[in-house]
Amino acid sequence: MAKKLDEMFPSEIVASLDKYIIGQAEAKKMIAIALRNRTRRKKLDSVLREEVTPKNILMIGPTGVGKTEIARRIARLANAPFIKVEATKYTEVGYVGRDVESMVKDLMASAVNMVNDEMAKLKEEDVSRAVDERLLDLLLPAVKKETGEGTVQSSDSSTREQFRQMLHNGVFEDKLVEMNVTPSSRVEIGVLGNGNSMDDIQEAMNSLGSIFQRPKKKKISIKRAREIIREEETAKAVDRDKVLEEAKIRTEEMGIIFIDEIDKIASGNRVSSGEVSREGVQRDILPIVEGTRVNTKWGVIDTTNILFIASGAFSMSKPSDLIPELQGRFPIRVELSALSVDDFYRILTEPENALTKQYAALLATEGVTLDFREDGLRRVAEIAYQVNGDTDNIGARRLHTVMEKLLEDVSFKAEEYQGQTIAIDRAYVDERLDFIASNEDVSRYIL
Ligand SMILES: Nc1ncnc2c1ncn2[C@@H]1O[C@H](COP(=O)(O)OP(=O)(O)OP(=O)(O)O)[C@@H](O)[C@H]1O
Ligand SMILES: [Mg+2]
Repeated sequence: MAKKLDEMFPSEIVASLDKYIIGQAEAKKMIAIALRNRTRRKKLDSVLREEVTPKNILMIGPTGVGKTEIARRIARLANAPFIKVEATKYTEVGYVGRDVESMVKDLMASAVNMVNDEMAKLKEEDVSRAVDERLLDLLLPAVKKETGEGTVQSSDSSTREQFRQMLHNGVFEDKLVEMNVTPSSRVEIGVLGNGNSMDDIQEAMNSLGSIFQRPKKKKISIKRAREIIREEETAKAVDRDKVLEEAKIRTEEMGIIFIDEIDKIASGNRVSSGEVSREGVQRDILPIVEGTRVNTKWGVIDTTNILFIASGAFSMSKPSDLIPELQGRFPIRVELSALSVDDFYRILTEPENALTKQYAALLATEGVTLDFREDGLRRVAEIAYQVNGDTDNIGARRLHTVMEKLLEDVSFKAEEYQGQTIAIDRAYVDERLDFIASNEDVSRYIL
């Protein structure tokens, strides 16, 4: 899985999503194509490239069928800058709160971190060497004093080598050394929430902070000293300008913004009085999706080629409740389908993070082996499906409540079952859940 997103073919992207998300083939396919198209676009000559803009995607589907999960998994794949934001977090320009331009800043921030990490990795060896030397200087101050700068006598250098070996073996981890430490200059000010210009103010405060906060001599452990020194040396080794340049290119050419819960800012037929205008937020989003230039502390970011994926359940509203201009800017619609009993069974067993694997691993830590049988899990899937039908349909999230109830007993009294293997078969499931599941009023409260 070392392959980077921009080198993956659509089928490979789908395959890696398949590891975690069951079904929803159409949505996976459309997203994979959109992602690949950006790589293709990068290879065009510059005249044509200017003409090709990404086709934004709107994902529609009932609650709990994997919309957000798809976004989460793409985020793990992406070496393209990616952020997931909730549409409900934003307020119209002029109101207290976060305005929509901040999503572009967040995207750029994630790109800066990403590129910074990558470049730091390239310099890792140099940095490690420098860190070792400085740690040794801290451990061997006397030696340094005697020999003066530069000239190291052979006996001293052999001591140093000995110390280096011991340092690597972790002998000194808790040893205290004296070192100049600059107090962390991050000043958190949360007066107005995370407003727009607050970033800039924070920056200003930080630089002010570093004037007032002179480095202080402190006694700290080698372990802590290593962290601090590594940070300093990494900052020294990585060329900040190069990082910003690369991060800006990646943000503009490969950036992806996933706007979740977009249906919650559709006004629908409910007239919302007194609250921050949702339509206003939609209108604010328009230019960003269309392509505009956003001022950030790292420079101006052009959003024309950022890919937007919006997603929402649209249970209380319809896509057509979004203002038309916004609808038009998400030309690709994909519907995610409701999940079947069989999907539920597969969700329980197949994904790499499947619930059954999670519970088995959790209880294994206390010496209890859970043996999930097929008939038992099929029954769990049926019950979850049935309860979804009888009460509210919350999709695959129902599996969480059902499984929790099913394993309540073992989870609570794991110590009594230590060393045992517990077979979760149909009888086990029925014994614990049948009464609840077959009684609608009871399941409304319990499952
Ligand atoms: N198709 C699926 N495959 C595997 N797991 C799934 C699938 N759909 C849902 N899940 C599980 O259900 C949970 C909820 O899904 P998710 O967060 O994607 O819902 P959603 O579609 O975004 O719903 P909402 O509209 O309420 O936000 C996930 O954490 C995941 O474990
Ligand atoms: Mg969601």
